[in-house]
Amino acid sequence: MNILIIFSFLFIPRISAVSRSPILIEKESFDSSFYAFPKNFSFGASTAAYQIEGAWNEDGKGQSIWDTFTHNHPDMIADGTNGDIGDDSYHHYLDDIKALKEVGFEHYRFSVSWARIFPNGTIVNKKGFDYYHKLLDQLIVNNIEPVVTMLHYDIPQWVQDYGGFLNPYFVKYFKLYAQTLYTEFGSKVKIWITFNEPYESCVEGYSAGTSPPLINLRGTGEYICAHNVLLAHAAAYDTYKKLFKNDQRGMVGITLDSRFYFPKNPLEGSDIVNRAMNFELGWFAHPIFSKNGDYPQVMIDEINERSNQEGRPFSRLPEMSNQVKEFIRGSADFLGFNYYSSRYVEFDNSEYDPTSQPTIYQDSRIKTSIDENWKRAKSEWLYSVPQGLHDALVWIKNEYNNIPVIITENGWSDSGELEDDDRINYYKEHLISVAKAINIEKCNVLGYTAWSIIDNFEWRKGFSERFVQDAFLQLNQYNGLDHKNDIAIIEMPSSFNTTEKSYLKFARLPTTELNDALVGSTVG
Ligand code: NOJ
Repeated sequence: MNILIIFSFLFIPRISAVSRSPILIEKESFDSSFYAFPKNFSFGASTAAYQIEGAWNEDGKGQSIWDTFTHNHPDMIADGTNGDIGDDSYHHYLDDIKALKEVGFEHYRFSVSWARIFPNGTIVNKKGFDYYHKLLDQLIVNNIEPVVTMLHYDIPQWVQDYGGFLNPYFVKYFKLYAQTLYTEFGSKVKIWITFNEPYESCVEGYSAGTSPPLINLRGTGEYICAHNVLLAHAAAYDTYKKLFKNDQRGMVGITLDSRFYFPKNPLEGSDIVNRAMNFELGWFAHPIFSKNGDYPQVMIDEINERSNQEGRPFSRLPEMSNQVKEFIRGSADFLGFNYYSSRYVEFDNSEYDPTSQPTIYQDSRIKTSIDENWKRAKSEWLYSVPQGLHDALVWIKNEYNNIPVIITENGWSDSGELEDDDRINYYKEHLISVAKAINIEKCNVLGYTAWSIIDNFEWRKGFSERFVQDAFLQLNQYNGLDHKNDIAIIEMPSSFNTTEKSYLKFARLPTTELNDALVGSTVG
């Protein structure tokens, strides 16, 4: 079975109220109208440049920190692969669009490779525009709304050589890049996302040093990084508002990721939930979306107190002047939210040793754990906790005055098995959670985006963790089945032999695998 089934199923409410429900009603027996999504709600899929494009050095593209890292450290990638070719979407974007269309997706979130546009410095590479124009034109012709992320982890190497996120000048470079994108693509793009998951970039890249640019500055690097990200985001927003919004009439937001946290000890209740949420989501969201701006008070107090104990003259968390607070506050038209999993949380009562190496996790004074009953995906961090998505949306609504939210990622990994019932259940249950949050809690959710539409390069896990089972999608297309509005006929033909490689001709797998598959293929 495949992801198509669940998505096609969920599109049905907008087409025919009669033919949906049996599976859901069976699952939980409350009013089926709770599962209807609002009329303008949009379903889509998401990818990122480094993960799918390939063509790492074509048409004048410069190197990104992920090119540098994967070339220098294949040993640090689970299967030794890289994104040099990736899914080769640079040459096969039409197939991606066909797949999106086939499922019935209404929007497509992809990211621009900054190093294609500015390969070596502040001089633009005009050839770098072509691919995105072609992609955007085809999306528009196919009636699929583009949602464009400006930076999805792949900072150009030249920007990193100046210090990357740690250099205050980063703000200027990013603003120039954003302005160039608005100028060039603004007539075609109405939904912009400045950054993807800056929490991960700042913690893994500039604090733990486990992802590029491999900077190990625990307890300080992550906070300086986040500060510059917030300023760069606000500068990009401000530029749009002042110079483009009147004509282009689009929206600018930011994509943040977070788990939801359930109290392990009921006595710690909402205090511990708020503490954990504030140290993860609130770190970036509070300065932008809260009424008063600035970092969450719990972070300001805790990090200040610890910095004091460490004998530092000032807090490791940068201070925001009133001017900076005002600049950042309100600098987004919507929140892009990536949700995958949740944890239990309890307060860490242990005494602080000021000579130990601080980290944001230590500063948060929480301990996290999982429930043994939660189903785990291939990714070791990914447990299915649909209630967490619901509760996170409600938390966002209450904390930030019900700002518009687009779920920009949600998905499930496996090894690429052809049988992906776990993925179907994950999607189904998470979509039920979203529907409940909208219909019962009145959360202002505008859209839902699956990760992903093509299996792709999963960062340090290479191609060993896969979030899509698109071979089916392509197979059904090959068989000429019209399954748009009918879940029954998109089930896999029972006679399908999974050892037969012929379907791979139509599947978008990494080119090496595709080539292997084609040797001796029955149709190739
Ligand atoms: C979030 C990231 O934005 C995306 O690049 C990644 O592939 C997915 N999580 C799955 O880990």
